[in-house]
Amino acid sequence: TKLHQFLQHLPKCEHHVHLEGCLTPELMFTLAARNGVCLPNTEQRPEFTSPETLYERYEHFTSLDDFLSYYFIGMSVLQQQSDFEALAWEYFQMAHADGVHHAEVFFDPQEHINRGVPFETVVSGFVAGCQRAEQEYGMTAKLIMCFVKHLPASDAQKVFDLAVEGGHFESGAIHGIGASSSEVGPPKDMFKEIYQTAHSKGIRRTAHAGEEGDPTYIEAALEAYKSQRIDHGVRLIDSPRLMEQVARDEILLTVCPVSNVKLRGVDHISKVPIRAFLDAGVKFSINSDDPAYFGGFILHNYCSVQEAFDLSIEEWRTIAENSIHGSWVDHERKLELL
Ligand code: HPA
Ligand code: ZN
Repeated sequence: TKLHQFLQHLPKCEHHVHLEGCLTPELMFTLAARNGVCLPNTEQRPEFTSPETLYERYEHFTSLDDFLSYYFIGMSVLQQQSDFEALAWEYFQMAHADGVHHAEVFFDPQEHINRGVPFETVVSGFVAGCQRAEQEYGMTAKLIMCFVKHLPASDAQKVFDLAVEGGHFESGAIHGIGASSSEVGPPKDMFKEIYQTAHSKGIRRTAHAGEEGDPTYIEAALEAYKSQRIDHGVRLIDSPRLMEQVARDEILLTVCPVSNVKLRGVDHISKVPIRAFLDAGVKFSINSDDPAYFGGFILHNYCSVQEAFDLSIEEWRTIAENSIHGSWVDHERKLELL
């Protein structure tokens, strides 16, 4: 690609990547065998025959929920602390190769706890991966805990309480909260109480909204959650009024262009409102979401955007600077990242 070298060297921040979405079919099969976890029966689900057949199936996701059904099966192979650490480390190696200098990564503790894996096992494994990235690469690496919308809010409240009581926000082991999984269906403000508590405690807040859902989902995240960032947020394009507000309040959207194509939010990358957001002064970062499922890490997203939009060096610098300014790091670190 034109500008590939330039884009690789551009200092990148990643704000929207799910560590469980970095689980490659190869690692999935390895861990399933090692941990004695049964993947679905291949008589009924032939796509689970081998990594190759899974990759083939990943070419044909029909929606967010179709993808999520694979994502939740995949993560069931994660059992030991060392599995979580290995998964995080695999991501950080790829991110480093792609020129990421700062990463804030999501994980879904409820899913692991409900399978009987202790919360502390998950957190300590992922924290170890983050620390290794900081030591070996000089990257800043932070964890954001996501609540999942397809399970009851009381379930999310329990894991939030565990994190607070464990001192994980105070220690910085967990850097903030997010909300993910199915969008259309569950109530838009289902985690309102948790987010209000987080706000009062000064805990950083983001939320997935406007991926498949209309702009009222984004509005709910901003109002009921006082969300400081919006994950995806591409449907903002359908509300000029809200778009103006998001631009004015400098709310960062963490856009994932390849993900939007793979999950059929748009039929081509050129339909992601990159140009419209740049023109309207809406700040956004470009991210990979679930790279092991969508066929590419962050640089692939940058290059795909360049292919479709042919942005100028100046515009790319603006995107990189906005990503740095929207990062949850102190002023000193921002100056280093610039
Ligand atoms: N949207 C919602 N939930 C998710 C996603 C996503 O793109 N990836 C992993 N969980
Ligand atoms: Zn996501």
